[in-house]
Amino acid sequence: MTTPAPMSIETFKQIRDFIYEKSGIFVPDNKKYFLENRLGRRIQEKGLKSYDDYAYVLKYGLDKAELVKLFDLVTTNETFFFREPQQFEVFGKELMTKIISENTASGRKDIKVWSAASSTGEEPYTIAIVLMEKPELANFKKEIFASDISESVLASARNGIYGSYATRNIPEPYLKKYFTNTGSNFVISQSIKSLVKFMKINLTDEKETRSIRGVDVVFCRNVLIYFDDKAKQKAVSLIYDALRPKGYLFVGTSESLHNITRAFRPVVINKVIVYQKA
Ligand SMILES: C[S@@+](CC[C@H](N)C(=O)[O-])C[C@H]1O[C@@H](n2cnc3c(N)ncnc32)[C@H](O)[C@@H]1O
Repeated sequence: MTTPAPMSIETFKQIRDFIYEKSGIFVPDNKKYFLENRLGRRIQEKGLKSYDDYAYVLKYGLDKAELVKLFDLVTTNETFFFREPQQFEVFGKELMTKIISENTASGRKDIKVWSAASSTGEEPYTIAIVLMEKPELANFKKEIFASDISESVLASARNGIYGSYATRNIPEPYLKKYFTNTGSNFVISQSIKSLVKFMKINLTDEKETRSIRGVDVVFCRNVLIYFDDKAKQKAVSLIYDALRPKGYLFVGTSESLHNITRAFRPVVINKVIVYQKA
């Protein structure tokens, strides 16, 4: 198999625009090498000769399977348990106290959380562990929706088997309580798995996000960075619709909704910014 010749600027723009239109992911001009690296092998696998041929397939011969493959290739799926732990501290303590009293006041005995770019599952399973550790929630129905645009990360999330890299930040007592150590891997327990419902949702697609409604908290971390402002605005307004009145949103600690929306009010709790639906 031969490596395809470098991508022309014109083909780059064609493929880049296609990816943007389907996912909101924006590949800037100086990242042409990123698309060449990610798509080069796929072109060989498909027996195509050039990036031009691949652009042609996307335009005229696209089937669902190729779109699934493309999303797998262009997404960055880095994640691990208890990533940005100060957010989970605030979520499990101050925020949970507020939510329990707000929901109880409105006659609810449940809590719903959405991990909106869940990747391989570490984030929604961390949320589930935090909820399981709250005795006050013992009589509450706990539901965690976890979604991603990439089918392959969802398949791996449903398996719930993790290596030492993903699990390195898990406090030892939780590792013992919620995982089985097989010697080479850590397998998540059924008690945690059963709280999480995985589904494929493109965060910039109105129809797909419509299945999530009335959630108390959304975690949308480390995904908006791959979008341009227009796609960020779209995703954030769809998240707004999914939240219950006065619901809460976490974005990654290096991300901000400044200049993106006024529909959320930033609230600082213990140095952590939480966005509240206005
Ligand atoms: C870097 S991971 C973040 C995982 C986790 N939220 C965290 O902070 O550790 C980004 C995830 O966003 C997903 N993603 C990218 N574009 C998306 C879109 N338009 N809709 C839903 N998920 C998307 C990718 O597939 C990837 O799994």
